[in-house]
Amino acid sequence: MKQLNGKIAVVTGAGRGLGKEIALRLAEAGAHVVVSGLRFDSLEVTAKNLQALGRKSVPLEIDIAKREEAHKLINFTLQEFGRLDILVNNAGINRDAMLHKMTIEEWNEVIAVNLTGTFNTLQAAAIVMRKQEYGRIINISSSSWLGNIGQANYSASKAGIIGLTKTAAKELARKKVTVNAICPGFIETDMTKNIPQHVWDLMVSKIPMGYVGTPREIANAVLFLASDEASYITGEVLNVGGGLVL
Ligand SMILES: NC(=O)c1ccc[n+]([C@@H]2O[C@H](COP(=O)([O-])OP(=O)(O)OC[C@H]3O[C@@H](n4cnc5c(N)ncnc54)[C@H](O)[C@@H]3O)[C@@H](O)[C@H]2O)c1
Repeated sequence: MKQLNGKIAVVTGAGRGLGKEIALRLAEAGAHVVVSGLRFDSLEVTAKNLQALGRKSVPLEIDIAKREEAHKLINFTLQEFGRLDILVNNAGINRDAMLHKMTIEEWNEVIAVNLTGTFNTLQAAAIVMRKQEYGRIINISSSSWLGNIGQANYSASKAGIIGLTKTAAKELARKKVTVNAICPGFIETDMTKNIPQHVWDLMVSKIPMGYVGTPREIANAVLFLASDEASYITGEVLNVGGGLVL
């Protein structure tokens, strides 16, 4: 039997990059997945890939920064599938600038999507999962939460996700809902593809394992935390970065 046979999952930001690979990995393990994000066309492609594996998958255009849309995502899943077992809060953006040049718009936009957006879906899912007395919530933070030049907004949002994860883990523990965070290191996706070559090379030189991670390597860690094998793990922060933060 597959690890996630028949489980119902929601993945945010599932139209490309890490979210797309996470949705695929969960579906390979047997889950039915609601794939949400900003662009319906790319979400439809992800959903078709999952359906080709024999899973149910529904694409849903949802801006997680908008509270009512985030709640709509969770309520839709409940109506369509009758329950919600796994939530992966993956959607995120960056608007990098040095602190002395960062605009308030750049600050607000990143906090609104990465931190408030994660709160919005997490809160809606918590309401459902408490009643079910079962759930797995995996929040995608970043190794940048420890501080990174040019990323004051992004770093603060990702650090906020760690606090949110630990608080939610404590509050939901008695209800058998686990909440964990994954901190990807430096992973090859659209988010990182425009980094100048000299910065890319510098980043790679800091990775003890010597290479840029793949979306699959993040998705495998998500699958573990979403599975019953991780039943006694909650409130943890799992670095998946080839040793980047050692
Ligand atoms: N790529 C990396 O090296 C890396 C490292 C650490 C953490 N992360 C985190 O991993 C997650 C995925 O990153 P990625 O590299 O795949 O990025 P990406 O830019 O390729 O994908 C992000 C996805 O989020 C969606 N999204 C953006 N704003 C949204 C909103 N308001 N509502 C719903 N969806 C929204 C986008 O449409 C996109 O599909 C992000 O949270 C990112 O911060 C990435």
